[in-house]
Amino acid sequence: MDCLQELEEQRKRLVSSGNADRQHAKGKMTADERLAYLFDKDTFLEMNTFQNRGQGLEKPVARDGVIAGYGKINGRYAYAYAQDFTIQGGSLSASNARKIIEAQKAAQKAGVPIIGLMDSGGAKIQEGIEALAQYGSIFYNNVQSSGHIPQITAIMGPCAGGASYSPALQDFIFFVEGTGEMFVTGPGVVKEVIGEDITMQDLGGVDVHMRKNGVAHVRAKDDKECLDKIRALLSYLPQNSNEMAPINKKFKARWQRGIESVVPENKRKIYDVKRVLDYLADTESLYEIEPEFAANIVTAFGRVNGQSVGFVANQPAVIGGCLDVNASCKAARFIRTCDAFNIPLVTLVDVPGFFPGSDQEHNGIIRHGAKMLYAYSEAKVPKITLVLRKAYGGAYIAMCSKGLGADIVWAWPYAEIAVMGAEGAVKIINKKEIKAAGDRKAEVLKEKTDEYTRIHLNPYVGAKLGYIDDVIQPQDTRRMLEKALEAYTAMGIGSDKPHHGNIPL
Ligand code: HXC
Repeated sequence: MDCLQELEEQRKRLVSSGNADRQHAKGKMTADERLAYLFDKDTFLEMNTFQNRGQGLEKPVARDGVIAGYGKINGRYAYAYAQDFTIQGGSLSASNARKIIEAQKAAQKAGVPIIGLMDSGGAKIQEGIEALAQYGSIFYNNVQSSGHIPQITAIMGPCAGGASYSPALQDFIFFVEGTGEMFVTGPGVVKEVIGEDITMQDLGGVDVHMRKNGVAHVRAKDDKECLDKIRALLSYLPQNSNEMAPINKKFKARWQRGIESVVPENKRKIYDVKRVLDYLADTESLYEIEPEFAANIVTAFGRVNGQSVGFVANQPAVIGGCLDVNASCKAARFIRTCDAFNIPLVTLVDVPGFFPGSDQEHNGIIRHGAKMLYAYSEAKVPKITLVLRKAYGGAYIAMCSKGLGADIVWAWPYAEIAVMGAEGAVKIINKKEIKAAGDRKAEVLKEKTDEYTRIHLNPYVGAKLGYIDDVIQPQDTRRMLEKALEAYTAMGIGSDKPHHGNIPL
């Protein structure tokens, strides 16, 4: 056999196509297919193609169970690795971990994003500590790259044991319905240790991580949708923390007429704040992060005149838009992600306060709410705040008030910014008068409530005192947003900010 033939023979052994049927039967693509779909056509270059340490070249362990390399996504370079479940359950060996580690280091050196496609039973059990220990290096690299380059993971099969901590250290986790499973201890161990009977999906399926605990950020119905969504997300992000996200003028502004009727003047009426975002962002540019978890706050990327921005908005349609433990953690993480990657923040405020009660207090609303205060105060990117309606108490401060460093704060004419709502306030400050009113109690309460409302519940008190830069017409908001973002970008606001990592919150 000549050398050229020999190469072809060796290459044939690298393809795990014999096992592709097993993947397809589960509704999954193979590792090869996933990478081919993720990258722009014919741009993927593989690293360490023949690596098969400890197995010998004669043993057909195709690509050591992990494929790693780089190529272009939407015309920009990125690294990626894909675990091959058909090779010993995609388990992490001392050998194939080196491929992942090398890709991580190369992505960091190049200053480009890295994407991990997870489909693995965890550490290769037969190898013991030799395999297990590699996770330490993978986690270490995740942290070294944190906030420098975007790190994205897709859970496209099992992601079991401590392996789940590498995704958790990254910026975004995508999760495929039905096939994705992620847990620290599997159902078998759960049964053995605490006697609980639970299925894999109930323990760590997509609903658990998207709805209940907020571990995952984006849901996908299958592999293709997952990879499409990763490609789309990357278009909002820069290659690294020294760059700006690319401008994409494909989408246009929406006609602004009608925006004024989205927010009801009646403060008790709810509405969907995403309708306001629809008006403010370029058409169809909104890309929501964690849409199912803590839906009382909306975190979404979007574009204004093609520029990538991060929207944070209270959602009055869910628990009145109150801030709670989960909303605080979700928002704080998103704010820090935007700040790490130079994405300006636009905050929409309609918040009655922090959600009251023992459940919130006992779960540490003080500790978690503080994360939002920290994240906004720390963020050096342009920060634009718009008060739509209610802005009460500590939650007003937490939603990027001037005190937390907002570059500009606007209010719509319906806005009311105060320590608390009228009825609650009057019952405290006019307690004695109400008590002394005898039969006229209801009358006095109404009088005092009206008086409080007239004096305090409007945007002009805050504007007079300099906490609001301007009270603006809803129809003018988009135009002003464009102006402000253009100005802040031209002036380089935040361009000299110090680096920070993106710790999970
Ligand atoms: C070696 C493994 C493996 C592993 C699966 N396989 N996991 N081989 N090490 N960790 C092999 C199986 O033996 C089988 O080989 C093939 O992969 C497919 O596995 P199946 O069990 O047949 O598939 P399925 O029924 O789909 O179940 C998948 C699974 C299950 C849910 C992932 O295999 C499983 O529970 N594996 C162990 C998960 C786990 O507890 N991992 C934690 C390891 S400790 P054959 O030859 O039959 O095809 C860990 C700690 C890291 O990861 C700590 C970091 C800090």
